Amino acid sequence: MTDISINFAGIKSPNPFWLASAPPTNSGYQIMKAFDAGWGGAVWKTLGLPTINVSSRYGSVNYRDTRMAGFSNIELISDRPLEDNLREMQEVKKYYPNHAVIASLMVDTRQEWETIIKEVQDAGADGIELNFGCPHGMCERGMGSAVGQEPEVLKTIVGWVMDAAKIPVITKLSPNISHITDPGLAAVLGGTNAISLINTVKSIVGIDLNSYAPYPVVDGKGSNGGYCGPAVKPISLHMLKDLAQHPEISKVPFSGIGGIETWRDVVEFILLGATSVQVCTAAMHYGFGIVREMEAGLRQFMEEKGYQTIYDFAGKALPNVTEWKNLNLKYEVKASINPDKCVGCDLCYIACDDGAHQAISLSDDVTNRVPTIIEENCVGCNLCSLVCPVEDCITMVKFDDGKENVTWDELTNANEIPDTFNDMRAGGRGHFVPTVEDAWNKRKYNR
Ligand SMILES: Cc1cc2nc3c(=O)[nH]c(=O)nc-3n(C[C@H](O)[C@H](O)[C@H](O)COP(=O)(O)O)c2cc1C
Ligand code: SF4
Ligand code: SF4
Repeated sequence: MTDISINFAGIKSPNPFWLASAPPTNSGYQIMKAFDAGWGGAVWKTLGLPTINVSSRYGSVNYRDTRMAGFSNIELISDRPLEDNLREMQEVKKYYPNHAVIASLMVDTRQEWETIIKEVQDAGADGIELNFGCPHGMCERGMGSAVGQEPEVLKTIVGWVMDAAKIPVITKLSPNISHITDPGLAAVLGGTNAISLINTVKSIVGIDLNSYAPYPVVDGKGSNGGYCGPAVKPISLHMLKDLAQHPEISKVPFSGIGGIETWRDVVEFILLGATSVQVCTAAMHYGFGIVREMEAGLRQFMEEKGYQTIYDFAGKALPNVTEWKNLNLKYEVKASINPDKCVGCDLCYIACDDGAHQAISLSDDVTNRVPTIIEENCVGCNLCSLVCPVEDCITMVKFDDGKENVTWDELTNANEIPDTFNDMRAGGRGHFVPTVEDAWNKRKYNR
């Protein structure tokens, strides 16, 4: 039997699935319901100073049939009385001593940090998460992402917290920065026990065409929001990779956040070095029950691969994430269409002819709807396989014999890189491109 329990910087949890600090962790009621559903931990909705929320608060990017492919909010930290949150935290820990309850905090002065840290420790929190991420509202008051974007300030505040805290401290980073390693390193130098990422991405999800205000509209006006949900997963994975490959920052564990919805997302985050994951949007969209699919899928993956614990495969993808200059320039794939699966929709032809390399032709025979790959034109870009609506209908087939391996870096070191476009070593030479006359003739033909 696989063991999916974790010890995250000293915070023990029966599994790596935590709810992120957000509306699903607004109350003890919700957190207890979530633990019953199977979540191993919860980061309480950020506690801090008294605040007032607006209505409405959320916006979304609905992409075709998919609602909330991206999600946005202009909500602030918890607006519930601090003493209610602390009392409920204590009660939750009483009922669920083996689950992880982490207090997310955001205050301003050193005195305020010291006071609130003592309060959540007294309430029985297993750990503290520092919210340096909110890109709206709180940052205008010098907190949230205003701290996350200033590594020196962040380091100072982490230092204050470490002096005061007796329980593990996780620093939650904002993605609204050019180099995530700057605040990441500052957090580690400040003494943090762990890092979580990402908080939301500063964004405008759309403009209401009646009020001309950004969503969500508040009495005819709007503000930038924080973007999250499936759309931000690639940003989060990339930032996690940057931290996990850094020799100093990788000494602390990472909790991965951003667009996690399925077991596969969970595994991908673990493969890039996370040893706990946090979920907000998917729980808001589908409810706490999604954790059952996550757990079943994670266990099945581990059984199939022969892993006993998640630490057996945490970070296993990291050696394969390299810089472009280290990729093998001699590796060659080309598209191949399975005629038995093709439904003759022409989408691959249109994509390749208009958006790629004119490497797909259609048959003149109206009874044959299967396009043909023109191998000598195909550069192996993948586009047709990505647009094809049938799973595994277009696959990319290896064409090189695997004997050669040359990288841009090696060519540079050997002084072998092309220095003019006429250089025989330059790429793109001899690739087929239809002529201007071809376009002209097609135009005449289409009229
Ligand atoms: C409505 C809403 C409120 C949020 N409130 C907080 C908060 O109080 N503290 C915090 O650290 N993050 C907050 N977040 C950010 C989430 O914890 C999380 O970092 C982000 O949503 C990315 O995860 P996801 O893609 O699973 O939603 C909030 C997110 C949403 C959507
Ligand atoms: S892989 Fe790219 S170049 Fe090759 S056929 Fe597909 S779209 Fe065209
Ligand atoms: S996109 Fe796929 S299904 Fe459609 S014509 Fe091309 S190969 Fe066939």
